[in-house]
Order: sequence, then C-alpha cells, then structure tokens
Amino acid sequence: MLEAAAILISYLLGSVSFSILIAKWVKGIDIRNHGSGNAGATNTLRILGKGPAIAVFALDIAKGVAAVLLGKFMVGGDWLPVLCGLAAIAGHNWPVWFGFKGGKGIATTVGVIATLAFLPALIAGLIAIASIALTRFVSLGSLIFAALTPVFIWLMDRPMALLWASLVICVFAFVRHRSNIVKLMQGRENKLGARKG
Ligand code: G3P
Repeated sequence: MLEAAAILISYLLGSVSFSILIAKWVKGIDIRNHGSGNAGATNTLRILGKGPAIAVFALDIAKGVAAVLLGKFMVGGDWLPVLCGLAAIAGHNWPVWFGFKGGKGIATTVGVIATLAFLPALIAGLIAIASIALTRFVSLGSLIFAALTPVFIWLMDRPMALLWASLVICVFAFVRHRSNIVKLMQGRENKLGARKG
C-alpha cells in the first residue's frame, strides 16, 4: 500500500511540467506550440531564454531527485526508489495535469540517475556535455547520456534494480527523441543557440 502510494505521488510530482508552467507565467504561451514543441529546458531556452531555461532545468532535475528520495525514505530497499524515479520520468513525459503531452524526460532522468548512481551519472553526464559542446546538438547529448548510464552502472557493478531502471530509462529517452533522431539523420536537427524549431 505504502509502495503504491509512493509510486503514485512520484508520478503526480513528475507530471508537474515546469516548462509549461513557467512559459505560461512568463509569456502567457503554451511552450508545446512553439519551437520544437517539447515541454523541456532546451525548448524553454529557445523560446524564453537562459533564465527561465535554467529554472526549468533545475526544477525538472529536482523532481527526479525528490521522487527517488521519497521512495528511499517511505519504504527503502533497492526497488522502490528506482520505481519512484521511473514514475517521475513517466509523469514528466506523459503528465496527467497537461493532457499527457509532456517532455522528453532528460532533466528528470539526470535527477533520478544522479541520486541513484552518482558516479555513473557523473561520467555519462560529462561525456554528454562534451558531445553537446562539440556538436551543439542537445538531443544527441541527451541520447548519449541515456545510452551510457546503463553501461557505466553495469561496469561499476551497481545493483540489478539500477541496471534494469537505467535500461527502461534509455528506452524512454529513445522513444521520446524519435523526431530528433530522424532530424539528426537528415541533418535538420536544431543546434543550441538557434532560435527556431
Ligand atoms: O531533452 C530534450 C532535448 O534532448 C531535445 O529538446 O526541444 O531540441 O527537441 P528539443
């Protein structure tokens, strides 16, 4: 019972889409109708600029951290924090509060993975940041982060629950980045700093 409550609360928390709320508050717009149409920090940067984007990124990370900690302190063990983290990412991607049309889950994934497996997240994160700096494609960096975390979790011999969760998170990321993958392959993907979607 407590387990189900923790997972449900995590999903509801993940469903709080800060890019939608902040874009509505700052500019009175639905961020999903602008730029790439994604409810996330990268699109917020594109449409609203640095300040709001940093706020969205930090808050989306924070809800991932909060969900894992909720699982840790409400029940504990290996599996519940992991399931709460997955529920928060699912909430971000398919938010109940916003017609199930949300973001791509990367900032929330950063919060979840960093809380569950800090060192693998740090190494994957540094490689992802380097790839974004080199290519200016945030989507590519996001996919590299999602693909590398299971590899480092496996190499560093972390609990099985973490390995499974990171594989599911990786699938989430690739599914949500389908349009980015097509654009990357066609050479049409937005670069960081470009204003239009
Ligand atoms: O995390 C989202 C990012 O990888 C891509 O965002 O708006 O360029 O589709 P966007």
